[in-house]
Amino acid sequence: VAGVKAEDDHLIREQIAYYEARAPEFDQMLVRKRRYEYDGLDPVSPDRDTRELAIAEAALGRLLPAGDVLELACGSGSLTKRLARSARLVTGVDASPAMLALCRERVEAENVRLIESDIFAWGPDHRYDLVAFSFWLSHVPRDLFDPFWSIVEQSLAVRGCVFFIDEIEGDGLEGYEQTTGDDRGTTIRHLEDGRQYTMVKVYYQPAEIERRLGALGWTVRVTPASRIYYAVAARSDRVELA
Ligand SMILES: C[S@@+](CC[C@H](N)C(=O)[O-])C[C@H]1O[C@@H](n2cnc3c(N)ncnc32)[C@H](O)[C@@H]1O
Repeated sequence: VAGVKAEDDHLIREQIAYYEARAPEFDQMLVRKRRYEYDGLDPVSPDRDTRELAIAEAALGRLLPAGDVLELACGSGSLTKRLARSARLVTGVDASPAMLALCRERVEAENVRLIESDIFAWGPDHRYDLVAFSFWLSHVPRDLFDPFWSIVEQSLAVRGCVFFIDEIEGDGLEGYEQTTGDDRGTTIRHLEDGRQYTMVKVYYQPAEIERRLGALGWTVRVTPASRIYYAVAARSDRVELA
């Protein structure tokens, strides 16, 4: 991958391999948590995951994602399905064929096209009205934060905006992940069959995202919703966030 250091390249490949192997487990987890379904989420549900996502979904609804939408790391398609309801076209990019196969199964809408690619090796073919990603920024190696946001910038139409959702903290599952404490954010995770992978998981606090994106020329509003946050961002020189 051009411009990506060899050790990052290795990490990116291992993380993709992790998701490729984890795809069925990942999807079962989403179904268990009802995270695959952004429709009809009850904002006062007794289930915390549902409440959190209901808040994020309502914010996404206010953005009216009607035009040409790009979803990075679309995975098995829970957000893709929601975006396809109102967008003219959704382009989903993900590096894992197994995740994309699940996405195709889940999202039958005709206004969705899927691209299999490593995001760090990908470039947009045109500019999009909305760029969205969920549970992805936390998987970007810390030292690729700025290059990642430059890909987002290149993908965004002049008056476009970015919507993203991620975790503020882990779900506390004992032994599920062991952070190595290095400065790229690498973590060790195991699959149910015991296979072990090194991947990236960085739990950003809202203030850190605002500071880092501000320094890169973005205006961003990050709203915490319990254990997750959602955020809306736009280029500071182009758009004022409503
Ligand atoms: C935590 S999942 C999130 C999936 C989906 N956005 C969701 O909210 O359910 C992370 C996704 O990132 C994808 N991924 C990991 N590294 C990638 C890379 N370098 N380029 C593209 N996709 C990548 C994985 O295949 C996986 O589908």
